[in-house]
Amino acid sequence: MPKVLVFGTGSLGTCYAWALSKAVGQDNVTAICRSNYEAASRNGFTVHSTLWGDNLTFQPRIARSVAEAVRQLSLDTQQFFDFVVVAAKAVPTDPSIAEIIGPAIVKGKTAIVLLQNGIGIEDEYARLYPESPLLSTVAYFPATQVSPGVVHHKEVELLHVGTYPADAPQAHKNIAREFVELLGKGGATAKLHDDIQRKRWAKLLVNSSWNPICALTRLRDREFIEVSLDLGLGAGNDKWGDGARFIKDVMMEIASVAQAYGYSDVNEETVDFQIGRAVVRDLPGVQPSMLGDAFEKRSMEVDAIVGNVVRLARKKGVNVPMLRTIYLLANGLSESFSRKKLQG
Ligand SMILES: NC(=O)c1ccc[n+]([C@@H]2O[C@H](COP(=O)([O-])OP(=O)(O)OC[C@H]3O[C@@H](n4cnc5c(N)ncnc54)[C@H](OP(=O)(O)O)[C@@H]3O)[C@@H](O)[C@H]2O)c1
Repeated sequence: MPKVLVFGTGSLGTCYAWALSKAVGQDNVTAICRSNYEAASRNGFTVHSTLWGDNLTFQPRIARSVAEAVRQLSLDTQQFFDFVVVAAKAVPTDPSIAEIIGPAIVKGKTAIVLLQNGIGIEDEYARLYPESPLLSTVAYFPATQVSPGVVHHKEVELLHVGTYPADAPQAHKNIAREFVELLGKGGATAKLHDDIQRKRWAKLLVNSSWNPICALTRLRDREFIEVSLDLGLGAGNDKWGDGARFIKDVMMEIASVAQAYGYSDVNEETVDFQIGRAVVRDLPGVQPSMLGDAFEKRSMEVDAIVGNVVRLARKKGVNVPMLRTIYLLANGLSESFSRKKLQG
């Protein structure tokens, strides 16, 4: 049976650890835990899902560090992980997550799976582990860890999977297929793509706009639309109002970067579709993850989700003045949280 290491067993990581445990057996899954280590060691994990079922409990192996996980494995006959699934938030750390997982990567044998949001997040892994199959994914999976080791999930569960880069060797493509099949066996829905970056860009339309704007304003998406319906900025008589018009302008900047990278189907039509979804939501609307992080004064995934879009735009000479402004402000906000922590 394949051996799986899940690095970062929080909201999303716990749910996919559950599906993978069903597929390969919980003894073949090791969960790296930090703040939920004690609870997970004592009680295992519990997932309450409106789609998968209520009160799903499981007890994989638990480790505090990658080195400990590798030590536990060395007692087994198979001494390497087939998959290392990275489900920690994509925030800059020193050492980086790509470096931290190093002891678990056996050259040419261990595949790395990135469950994180954002764009351009694969580069460091590809540079550090050029022989390893690298799978990039896009999750549509609203999950929240409500107490240590206990996760609530609702509404939708879909993981898009593809290799990084898109033109990876056939052997790596086969491993991407194997991973999708494993998830299917575990009861999760996963789809294989030739070019996963198209899915990343499509999700960024929503993530790079709503996430930082909601975090900066402390408002949920529908609340933001509501409070800025008619501010005298010229869109008050539009069907959507000034706030939604602003969101549309920001999304159009993101779409123009996606198009510069060849993804022409990320366009005004997809932008209008995404705005339309928020406009018809009941108040107060959705709380994006960065808003949750801002409330808790935690570092936000600003670089992976916003900054990298601005940097990719710069490389192609695409002008993104609104997104650049949002990035600088959201980055400042996120930094203020870490500085306050350092100052105690
Ligand atoms: N949750 C969702 O609904 C959802 C949906 C789609 C995509 N995503 C993406 O999935 C990724 C994970 O998000 P999430 O919501 O699952 O985050 P999360 O609930 O904060 O879980 C991340 C987990 O990683 C752990 N972690 C981080 N750094 C670690 C380290 N150095 N050593 C050990 N453990 C570490 C955290 O431990 P601590 O508790 O100690 O910090 C936490 O348990 C993000 O990129 C997010 O954008 C999330």
